[in-house]
Amino acid sequence: MKKNTLVGLCTTASLCISHAALAEETISVLHWWTSGGESKAVRVLKDDMAKQGYGWKDFAVAGGAGAAAMTALKAQVISGNAPSAAQIKGPLIQDWADQDLLVSIDASATDWKSHTPPPIDAIMKAGGHYVAAPFSIHRINWLWINKVDLDKVGGKAPETWPEFFALADKFKAAGITPVAHGGQPWQDMTIWETVVLSQGPDFYRKALVDLDQKTLTSPQMIQVFETVQKIRTYFDKGYVGRDWNLATAMVIKGSGGMQFMGDWAKGEFANAGKQPGVDYICAVAPGTANGYTYTVDSFAFFQENGQKTATPGQLAMAKTIMSVDFQEQFSLYKGSIPVRQDVPMSKFDDCAKKSYTDEQSTIKSGGFLPSLAFGMVQSTVTAGAISDAVTKFMNSSEDAKTGVAALAAAAKIK
Ligand code: GAL
Repeated sequence: MKKNTLVGLCTTASLCISHAALAEETISVLHWWTSGGESKAVRVLKDDMAKQGYGWKDFAVAGGAGAAAMTALKAQVISGNAPSAAQIKGPLIQDWADQDLLVSIDASATDWKSHTPPPIDAIMKAGGHYVAAPFSIHRINWLWINKVDLDKVGGKAPETWPEFFALADKFKAAGITPVAHGGQPWQDMTIWETVVLSQGPDFYRKALVDLDQKTLTSPQMIQVFETVQKIRTYFDKGYVGRDWNLATAMVIKGSGGMQFMGDWAKGEFANAGKQPGVDYICAVAPGTANGYTYTVDSFAFFQENGQKTATPGQLAMAKTIMSVDFQEQFSLYKGSIPVRQDVPMSKFDDCAKKSYTDEQSTIKSGGFLPSLAFGMVQSTVTAGAISDAVTKFMNSSEDAKTGVAALAAAAKIK
């Protein structure tokens, strides 16, 4: 009755929806999706929830890769204001579950197991129960290239490091910043991790998943640091502290030739109305064709008002996130590919189709590897120590051997 009165009072459709939603439940959501492409993608979820009558209280914390968002989350939880859902990924989900702060969303996850790649399905669970819902799969080892610039210098997408440096020299000669980069630790890690992958998927696995000391201190690892050191010489002067989407904007406009970045960068190209193959090229980073470093975004669900069970709104959100239609639309905006394996790829562009084909083949070959830079493997302590070593190397005149020694020491920090 009360709801009918409210609906009866409202004058526009949108008002009706928000009144109805408030009468039901408002979900508070902490995330770090604030760039153009990211906001468009997360809005799909907000709208889907509104259609089901749920309100949305937004806690967007700017800062690529989410370090600031994770600090905000801790503060909220400590003050007893945990959000209903928070963007948390990888082993961190388990850490929050171990604190007995999350709720089971099993009731919404009845068909997830059969539609999700097994390594990803496992990460969404704690103590045998689903506590997080996965959005999509992002590939990290991409190189984004401005097509007009590429044609101007008569180049082609580089498949090896020598080809990459030859192209970078051409861009430099043409007055184009060869590598658009943002000097923030996670972006430094993105480049470094991609160069590690270029030594082969086995090398990456031994080094960054197994933390094998012999691999971490090998001559190939010295080569990795030398390559990274050389890439650094192709940044512009303003790279320090630059946000990732501003670096992408340089490539979109053509003042920057190339960027190493996960495929959320494609969300920015799409948002700017740019077409792959026409305005820009998505190339697999040099030497990494048989590898696929991935990150999977997910929302974990927190206990609310001391209740150990999920609210109807939390269950509805988890179900929506893993629905076929949402998975498709979200990834179309976000630049990723659906995590659900039964979503048709027909509406996706060639970059996403390539990502999907490579995902399928690397799952079989063993080249499908969790990204260290994006928190998909190792504890935050170990990953943080490695990131410190890499960032220090990238922002100093340290030689490769010193960088490798610092890496090997960091990998022992638990
Ligand atoms: C990653 C996240 C992506 C993208 C990126 C930049 O951690 O997985 O979805 O948002 O940060 O913000």
